[in-house]
Amino acid sequence: MEKYIITGGKPLKGEVIISGAKNAAVALLPATVLAGDVCVLENVPDISDIRKEIEILRQMGAKVTRLSPSSLEIDTSTLNTTEVPLELGIKFRASYYFLGSLLSRFGDANVPMPGGCDLGARPIDQHLKAFTALGAAYELDYAMINVKTDNLQGAHIFFDTVSVGATINAMLAAVKAKGTTILENVAKEPHIVDVANFLNTMGADVRGAGTDVIKIRGVERMHGATYTVIPDQIEAGTFMVAAAATRGDILVKNVTPEHLEIITSKLRATGAVVEEFDEAVRVIGVSEYQNTNIKTRPHPGFPTDLQPVMGVLLCLAKGTSIVTESIWDSRFRYCDELNKMGANIQVESRVAVFEGVEKLQPAPVKATDLRAGAALVIAALCAEGQSEITEIQHVERGYVDIVKKIRALGGDIRKVVVPEGEVLKKAH
Ligand code: EPU
Repeated sequence: MEKYIITGGKPLKGEVIISGAKNAAVALLPATVLAGDVCVLENVPDISDIRKEIEILRQMGAKVTRLSPSSLEIDTSTLNTTEVPLELGIKFRASYYFLGSLLSRFGDANVPMPGGCDLGARPIDQHLKAFTALGAAYELDYAMINVKTDNLQGAHIFFDTVSVGATINAMLAAVKAKGTTILENVAKEPHIVDVANFLNTMGADVRGAGTDVIKIRGVERMHGATYTVIPDQIEAGTFMVAAAATRGDILVKNVTPEHLEIITSKLRATGAVVEEFDEAVRVIGVSEYQNTNIKTRPHPGFPTDLQPVMGVLLCLAKGTSIVTESIWDSRFRYCDELNKMGANIQVESRVAVFEGVEKLQPAPVKATDLRAGAALVIAALCAEGQSEITEIQHVERGYVDIVKKIRALGGDIRKVVVPEGEVLKKAH
């Protein structure tokens, strides 16, 4: 087990280069199955969820070669099974994208019930609804989902809930279905557009991604392609908030500023200074922040994945801020940890009331999920003195070289191995 030791109180200053988007890349690797050919993916984040997908592809017979730390060559012509290994697939969420791509290519997919961050109930009924509408049948067997069909047929599918995962899985399943598929009430996140663009580069015909309706004309064949993953909007937002909260000054590079408009506007509402460039944003912290309210929404609303991170700044903003979470049931568990650091947050179901405090104090805290962990890292960088964060495997599922990037900005963070049986000690 590992933990972070952070000595906070120093502003983060300098430049950071944002990696490829996790939530796009974790869908693009399974999508390469559709090519049955060689694909090259560039700007792929080297994070643990991606390493698990590489291992899944290899164990299923694909050849995966790392061309550089961020580019992969994936040859799926040699796949020899439609079954994702249980022990790997169960460990993270995005393994369920193999359902759509294997179903589309082979008419059969066997994938473990997906894991991922514990954010409350995470049903997959909308994924299954889409597969069924396209002519597949499914059954559950000892934590495995089997979906199969003799013939995928285009269909008109109206999603009951706006879902990133179901939208992507339906696209993956429909690209080779006979006829036309219309998906309505779909998710519009930048990574939805990225997946559609990659599918089109492989020969698919997907239009409308980024709007409420996606139209897919089924094609008979797809082929290999070279594609570059978009920058990670959530990693960028995390460093933007870190600049503001530590009262620093960070140039966040390799970003698409339009994907960051909502976080830019919320940061400005608190008084932080945000400058926008072609492929970068600069955030300059100020001495005092104003309160603001946040309600998470599917894109283009405020992303739930930045809610915990932004929560740290609201702890330090003057007055009362109200945060409403409309996507996940359990996304406020980080608030208990922040309260251990001197924050004043009261949570009632899906609403959290933040009363601003002068400063945060160091404490031993636990990353309860990926974005909760990122929030605690920022909080610890703000708190003068030494904090410890445990359960950091969650953070490392989603942030490339977070320790290295923060240290390059002047932050005092170390990753250390926790000796087995270590009892919590007071830091001095
Ligand atoms: N939902 C259903 N039925 C379904 C699918 C979803 O009711 O079949 C509900 C969920 O319970 C939730 C809402 O719809 O209330 C949205 O869920 P969505 O399917 O959009 O989420 P997801 O695809 O499971 C992805 C990201 C999450 C991110 C959400 C929302 C990946 C691998 N995960 O999850 O990212 O919070 O979209 O933007 O892409 C993270 O990166 O920290 C993370 C949790």
